[in-house]
Amino acid sequence: MENSLVVTIKNLVKQFPVGGDYFTALKDINLNITKGEFTGLIGPSGSGKTTLLNIIGGLDSPTKGKVSALGNSLNDTSHNVRARLRRKHMGFIFQSYNLLPVYTVFENVELPLILNNVEMKKRKAIVKEAVASVGLSNKLDSRPNMLSGGECQRTAIARAIVHQPGLVLADEPTANLDAENSHHIMKILTDLNQKLDTSFIFATHDEKIMDYLRRIIHLDDGQITEDEFIKNSKVDTSK
Ligand SMILES: Nc1ncnc2c1ncn2[C@@H]1O[C@H](COP(=O)(O)OP(=O)(O)OP(=O)(O)O)[C@@H](O)[C@H]1O
Ligand SMILES: [Mg+2]
Repeated sequence: MENSLVVTIKNLVKQFPVGGDYFTALKDINLNITKGEFTGLIGPSGSGKTTLLNIIGGLDSPTKGKVSALGNSLNDTSHNVRARLRRKHMGFIFQSYNLLPVYTVFENVELPLILNNVEMKKRKAIVKEAVASVGLSNKLDSRPNMLSGGECQRTAIARAIVHQPGLVLADEPTANLDAENSHHIMKILTDLNQKLDTSFIFATHDEKIMDYLRRIIHLDDGQITEDEFIKNSKVDTSK
């Protein structure tokens, strides 16, 4: 495998057991994603976007086909190896946030750093910077049930990028944000993409995100129907 490929997918099929039968959510997907891409999966509800992100992130396993992420085959690796890969090198922004309800904003964002053994003194500064970048410095001590949907989403975004992962998987990351906040968040993510060559894969319906994407992969009914590279996105590729 070439080093510059962060994701390779060959003949991926994903079936879910449903009432004694199977539902095929992904049908023969073939896809390569190169380091530093800023790519979106676009498609109607139920087309398989979240399923594909979950498989790329090693959170769900393929029924058939080969998948590797960041140089690791996800077919034969143990749960522990996949967990370590996620912890160190991936960031997730889930459609439903997945914040820990008993933790504050600070503690939720701090968690990836604790799991990666970053020492406490360093952690504080890094967490505060990440939380400030999403505009929530005044909510550091709030728990998720005290936050608006958009504030939860921004906390989840800070948590996904705080440990500077190589690959960020973002499922509808702006679904609950107003236009101003969406653009602000997309600017933060594009900056990260430019500065650290972080690869991003978004699943989205949001036109505001699409303006920033450099590649758009269209999914329909579990299949890739179009794969387009965008020249005039808002991301400056001149570096
Ligand atoms: N665990 C599961 N068991 C059975 N069917 C599932 C499961 N997870 C997903 N599906 C089905 O697979 C299809 C793809 O689901 P997926 O969540 O990937 O869609 P999506 O493109 O992310 O949609 P949305 O835009 O609504 O988030 C859907 O028809 C869904 O019902
Ligand atoms: Mg989804």
